[in-house]
Amino acid sequence: MSRKRVAVLISGRGSNMTALIAAAKRADYPAEIALVVSNRPDAGGLATAQHEGIATEVVDHKPFGKDRAAFENAIQAVLERHRIDIVCLAGFMRILTGDFVNRWYGRMLNIHPALLPAFKGLDTHRRALDAGVAEHGATVHLVVPDMDSGPILLQGSVIVRPGDTETDLAARVLAVEHRIYPEALKMLAEGRFAP
Ligand code: GAR
Repeated sequence: MSRKRVAVLISGRGSNMTALIAAAKRADYPAEIALVVSNRPDAGGLATAQHEGIATEVVDHKPFGKDRAAFENAIQAVLERHRIDIVCLAGFMRILTGDFVNRWYGRMLNIHPALLPAFKGLDTHRRALDAGVAEHGATVHLVVPDMDSGPILLQGSVIVRPGDTETDLAARVLAVEHRIYPEALKMLAEGRFAP
């Protein structure tokens, strides 16, 4: 079976990207990280990817202004040029249009730092602490037009400890993210997930 060609879309430090790259180094892993795309030229993850010998592309959203379709067409062109099969959003902080999302339905994953459907959107760790939940975590799901709402492949949880700060919780959830994202991508690449 040929390995699926994966693009990881980032906006920042790219620690989930790094976890995916590490997993894909295993000979028996069913996907290879063929491309990293950032919408921010200064994303820290770009240097990491280059250091790993992975192709990188910057598609800066700023010159496109409010024209999200044009921005996404530029991303689509890059994905096609690199013959990408699967897209992994990994801290990619742009909202994608329904057209783009539907084009990739079943082939685009996102990782979200909460136990969906709880705490969609931003500031998930602070909101989890404010809500006083006993358990928090991370979710990998298929991307659908509604934000943070698609079919769930995997979740991992952590116990919220008394006295936890946002930073404490973020660090423990991030460790979970790094474990479940490679596992979820493996499931999708092997065709073991049919929504
Ligand atoms: C991760 O915690 C990811 O779950 C979150 O951003 C962080 C990116 O970190 N994503 C979102 O909040 C998406 N709405 P990373 O760049 O180190 O992978």
